[in-house]
Amino acid sequence: MKNILFAASECVPFIKTGGLADVAGSLPKYFNKENYDVRVVLPKYNCMYQKWKDMMEYIDSFYMNLAGADRYVGILTCEYEGIRFYFIDNEYYFSGGSPYEGDPKWGIEKFAFFSKAVLSILPVIGFRPDLIHCHDWQTGLIPVYLDNFRFAGEYYRGIKSVMTIHNLKFQGVWDTKSVRYITGLPDYYFVPDKMEAYKDANLLKGGIVYADKVTTVSQTYAQEIKTPFYGEALDGLMNARSHDLWGIVNGLDYDEWNPEKDPMIAHPFNVENFRKVKVLNKTSLQEELGLDKDPKAMMIGLVSRLTDQKGFDLVDYIMDELCQDAVQIVVLGTGEAKYENMFRHFAWKYAGKVSANIYYSNELSHRIYASCDAFLMPSLFEPCGLSQLMSLRYGTLPIVRETGGLKDTVEPYNEYEKTGTGFSFTNYNAHEMLSTIRYAEQIFYDKKRDWNKMVERAMNMDFSWKNSAARYELLYRELLGE
Ligand code: ADP
Ligand code: GLC
Repeated sequence: MKNILFAASECVPFIKTGGLADVAGSLPKYFNKENYDVRVVLPKYNCMYQKWKDMMEYIDSFYMNLAGADRYVGILTCEYEGIRFYFIDNEYYFSGGSPYEGDPKWGIEKFAFFSKAVLSILPVIGFRPDLIHCHDWQTGLIPVYLDNFRFAGEYYRGIKSVMTIHNLKFQGVWDTKSVRYITGLPDYYFVPDKMEAYKDANLLKGGIVYADKVTTVSQTYAQEIKTPFYGEALDGLMNARSHDLWGIVNGLDYDEWNPEKDPMIAHPFNVENFRKVKVLNKTSLQEELGLDKDPKAMMIGLVSRLTDQKGFDLVDYIMDELCQDAVQIVVLGTGEAKYENMFRHFAWKYAGKVSANIYYSNELSHRIYASCDAFLMPSLFEPCGLSQLMSLRYGTLPIVRETGGLKDTVEPYNEYEKTGTGFSFTNYNAHEMLSTIRYAEQIFYDKKRDWNKMVERAMNMDFSWKNSAARYELLYRELLGE
């Protein structure tokens, strides 16, 4: 039996802002329980729902030095769906309305605290991991501290680490002097072949340099980040570590995302009856959101963080043109004000056709995935993307740009061979996107049989965690042996 500890800054069902939470919360359930005891550690944020806080039991507490003072480290725990979770408590760091609130420097200190605490609690919780699986820059210091702690005592020697990059854009960068002070790490680590990048300290870089293996969340993104365009100025490092870099595509929690047994949707359906039943969800949603009630109208969904990454400048550019077509557009998302306002504007301008829901709602997201005919995801870059997987599962055909995980998971429609599960375009160009959407409209309205065959193929795809969890097991075996 091998002990694995996941460390992440967000994790369903406790706290979520994006796909990282889905991965950290669902992947641990899919390892072979006879060989792996996988547990998860995350911060105990004040903004978590009370319902989750009530489930947690206090284990212990102690003080740990960070940023020039002794800081309280509380440890809580709970079991959920067969997985043991640990929560690190410190109200000074983890209060606030959302996990990433505050300026960048505060973020660095908060997650330096978390990373050091993850290692410090191990002797106290009586769970010594053989491997710590770190996710994104917030946990980038764990492999670095692990290296540092090895000198301090026997306990940490031999613990392996894996660093998974969910998004290379966010690296946790601040000036070297401050980071040295905050972390308490010696000068030794603040040089260009370790944690320093372009004169600043870079937490993700530290993780990538010191982890035994590095992974990212699709094979295409694993290739892309070795190039300057996608490499976010770390492409040199990604090339240097390419022998230890694996691309493993994300999966979905097929229990939570199941059109047949989804309590959040009005009319559950499956691959046999979707032709009759799926459309009932569309009319229910039209009613719920105040859109024109028309079962025949092609409905396009967008559920996303509203950021540049997701290609919303392309959408902005062609939205007026698109709204001349026989389509309805349903948006659910929060993020940059310019995009929030843009969608509010179009919802006002095209009332009855466009619905802008500028907030976070897991329930509404389920209904959008279930109700729409197509799902638009024209990302500038996309390490994996889960929304297109959710769409496929609910027979909602993705229209995507061919990048990262979108390229690996959506097979473009081929009208001659009758293959494909969605539509895609190559260049980051608004009119290339628009003509792809219009091509999809044409198939939807004029070739319904082909469209429905595509829905059937989409719903029959298997993006459960089964295959990808097996790949992570293979990776662990390489590091730990049988
Ligand atoms: P990213 O992690 O880059 O945001 P992903 O596609 O991997 O993109 O995951 C996004 C996840 O967050 C999906 O589960 C999506 O449904 C969810 N999501 C994004 N915005 C919202 C929102 N406003 N309300 C509910 N769920 C959302
Ligand atoms: C990141 C990426 C997204 C990916 C998710 C989970 O947020 O932007 O593409 O699906 O992490 O790995």
